[in-house]
Amino acid sequence: MLIRWRHLLAALVALPVLGLMVAWLGLIPVGASGGHWAATDWFLHWVMRNSVRTAALDTKTPPLNNAAMLPLAAGHFETGCALCHGSPVQKRSAAALAMLPPPPDLAEVVPTWTDAQLFEIVQHGVRFTGMPYWPTRDREDEVWAMVAFLRQLPDMDGPTYLRLSGLATPIQDGTLRPPALACDSCHAETRLDGNGLIPGLAGQSEAYLLESLRAYADGTRPSGVMQAAISGLEPDSFHDLARFYAGQARQSLPPAQSEPALLDHGRRLAEAGDAGRRIPACLTCHDRADGNPAFPVLSGQSAPYLESQLRLFAAKTRGGGAYADLMIPAAENLEERDIEALAAYFSSR
Ligand code: HEC
Ligand code: HEC
Ligand code: HEC
Repeated sequence: MLIRWRHLLAALVALPVLGLMVAWLGLIPVGASGGHWAATDWFLHWVMRNSVRTAALDTKTPPLNNAAMLPLAAGHFETGCALCHGSPVQKRSAAALAMLPPPPDLAEVVPTWTDAQLFEIVQHGVRFTGMPYWPTRDREDEVWAMVAFLRQLPDMDGPTYLRLSGLATPIQDGTLRPPALACDSCHAETRLDGNGLIPGLAGQSEAYLLESLRAYADGTRPSGVMQAAISGLEPDSFHDLARFYAGQARQSLPPAQSEPALLDHGRRLAEAGDAGRRIPACLTCHDRADGNPAFPVLSGQSAPYLESQLRLFAAKTRGGGAYADLMIPAAENLEERDIEALAAYFSSR
């Protein structure tokens, strides 16, 4: 009996040592070319699906039937996802298909997941597969925009994808022309229609645009979309980009149609604030001829964008340049109706 216990103990010590020896001798193959055994492949995907399902259990899905979510997600998809997953205008490359596991054709697999599960995958990525996580963990709205886009992807044709991502713009005769500047695929004045979540840059001060680019680059203003868009740039080029957009003329959009009562409420808050509710008058800082160039121009910006930024400030996740903290007290006492009214008012100016 005693001897048997000793054998067992010896085996227990010997096995891990043997395992380490095998690893140390380099006998475990790590090459991807051999693929997985079918059993390993099945097991890994089983673990992945279970993990995503559990993670998504208490994820609440916001409304996703908002067309404004699609352009920023499509633009990000083209630069951040299509290189692996392909897109409606481009098949997966042979290089991507040689990954282990290969990135799936999303048009095929998206219908097998719920919105909340897609959110978990895109927000957190998938370990051991090369599927990256979203560049920032500080906000969820961009990831939900991507989920809204993925939902549409299986039925999306090439021209719609090109139009949404802004990576080509149709010219008169119907042929597609690539945009001159990567930023313009999202920010070109001609792409802004007053209902989007992508801000117009024309007419902002050079100082504000420069501060914003630096804030995205050092992560003090979290945005996965903008972090990815500038990740390949030298910080030296920020000056030129800021100067370029500051010098562009803002196109005037047809004024948005809002109820007069809402506009009036927005105008009163903007001009006078509400001392009882500790809301400052926005116009003491914004949109003044003698204003600090670090305070952005709000007039003419789209209402959905202004709302999104006010909600981020109120949640203390917007970040920004050196003066950004001034906006937290200005935004944190706003109610949902105030936010809508202020956005409607400024977008209509
Ligand atoms: C470097 C390559 C790469 C990039 C870039 C990439 N993915 Fe993936 N993705 C993968 C791989 C590999 C898998 C497969 C994971 C698996 O088999 O479990 C995957 C899986 C997924 C899945 C789950 C599909 C399924 O059923 O397994 C979704 C959804 C997804 N990716 C969306 C995206 C989105 C959206 C982006 C851009 C924000 C993106 N991916 C960027 C490689 C990539
Ligand atoms: C895929 C679409 C996309 C691309 C490409 C893109 N942007 Fe953006 N940009 C956005 C979105 C969306 C926001 C709003 C992000 C947020 O909530 O902070 C933004 C915000 C900005 C802002 C802040 C504006 C403000 O009013 O605060 C600046 C400045 C900016 N982008 C400059 C650039 C420059 C320069 C480039 C090219 C190097 C670029 N962007 C490329 C989508 C894009
Ligand atoms: C004390 C000065 C001050 C007051 C008052 C103020 N703001 Fe701001 N606001 C700022 C500064 C500074 C920023 C730029 C933050 C940064 O660095 O990105 C800003 C940014 C914003 C932005 C983001 C714009 C963009 O392009 O991303 C919105 C929207 C905004 N403010 C709305 C308001 C509203 C609405 C009010 C009134 C309720 C208000 N602000 C009151 C200073 C102020």
